[in-house]
Amino acid sequence: MSSLLIRDATLPDGRTGLDILCADGRIANLAPRISASAARTIDAGGMLVAPPFVDAHFHMDSTLTYGMPRVNASGTLLEGIALWGELKPTLVQDVIVERALAYCDWAVGRGLLAIRSHVDTSDPRLLAVEALLHVRERVKPYLDLQLVAFPQDGLLRSPGALHNLKRALSMGVDVVGGIPHFERTTADGAESVRILCEIAADLGKRVDMHCDETDDPMSRHVETLACQAQRLGLQGRVAGSHLTSMHSMDNDYVSKLIPLLREAGVAAIANPLINITLQGRHDTYPKRRGMTRVPELLAAGVPVAFGHDCVMDPWYPLGSGDMLEVAAMGLHVAQMTGQDAMRACFDAVTATPAAILGLEGYGLAPGRRADLVLLQARDPVEAIRLRAARLAVVRAGKVVATSPPARATLDLPGRPATVDWTLPGAP
Ligand code: FE2
Repeated sequence: MSSLLIRDATLPDGRTGLDILCADGRIANLAPRISASAARTIDAGGMLVAPPFVDAHFHMDSTLTYGMPRVNASGTLLEGIALWGELKPTLVQDVIVERALAYCDWAVGRGLLAIRSHVDTSDPRLLAVEALLHVRERVKPYLDLQLVAFPQDGLLRSPGALHNLKRALSMGVDVVGGIPHFERTTADGAESVRILCEIAADLGKRVDMHCDETDDPMSRHVETLACQAQRLGLQGRVAGSHLTSMHSMDNDYVSKLIPLLREAGVAAIANPLINITLQGRHDTYPKRRGMTRVPELLAAGVPVAFGHDCVMDPWYPLGSGDMLEVAAMGLHVAQMTGQDAMRACFDAVTATPAAILGLEGYGLAPGRRADLVLLQARDPVEAIRLRAARLAVVRAGKVVATSPPARATLDLPGRPATVDWTLPGAP
């Protein structure tokens, strides 16, 4: 007897009326009207079944620390880094683990089953690294956690940073990170990119660097990142995160830069919720939006994912692990209101980050991992519009979370008894 059968699903690509049979943790069959019995059957009723949400950029070591030891008064990236610096010496491993596990619970409830988290390697005790390596193993049955060695205080700026980063990688951290715009000089930033890409090439690791997270149009480290990716043969394995300076750059320079990223196989990860609040803080009016140029990157063939980046930490006071909220903010900030553009925003929190992380077996097709989410929406655009309820979250063919449908009861003369915000008259 097979373990799980989902009836009458609509897929993100628009196919309808499909059944999905899950067995032994994999999708065994995906076709209309499958004749099979299963231990459990779910009637999707024509609702959207998508592969799970994927967050390509997060900071799990600082999550759920909002207000410790105080809140970020200026709302800037730099005050956030200073605040985190105050908090770091007081961190205890058990508490980092507890907070991370609590966040992973939130994530699973939201159908978010894969997260790439940067972990600060600046602290010579590497407490956060040890804690998140432990968490990675703990959550493995239900969530893929990929860790990035992140020298938060600068690779060259902070004494011992290179040594600590290499130790973290040798302990099992998956990806090489960096923060070139935080080094003392532009030259040091470029040098840090070279060193880090060479380490990644030597170890066969992927690269994901915080890059140009500033409104300074002259912050151009992503150019160096693309150059090093090309030189070292790292095409398809490198991501530039944030890239907010691109928002403020001269159009002529960008017309050279974006094809360079495409040529070097570098992906972009924008973090719309965080950069719409952190950037533009030194502007009066008009205030810049400070998100990288998402539609232009996509049009040039550069993969773009949206990350959550922060939830309740020194940089951001809100959030709940909802990647549909992230997609909605990205859509608004980038003015991506066309039908294809809105669908691309859904891809930016599902298939695109899955490819950037190199997730094995991701996607809805026979033979792939039976990881999926049933949404209270009929298509990806409606899912974003409604921040649709995750009716069921499935990991390896097992239901790991459920939520009731969102619905209000009305008491209005001559009007329906309930409303669920779908279009009246829709099937
Ligand atoms: Fe970040």
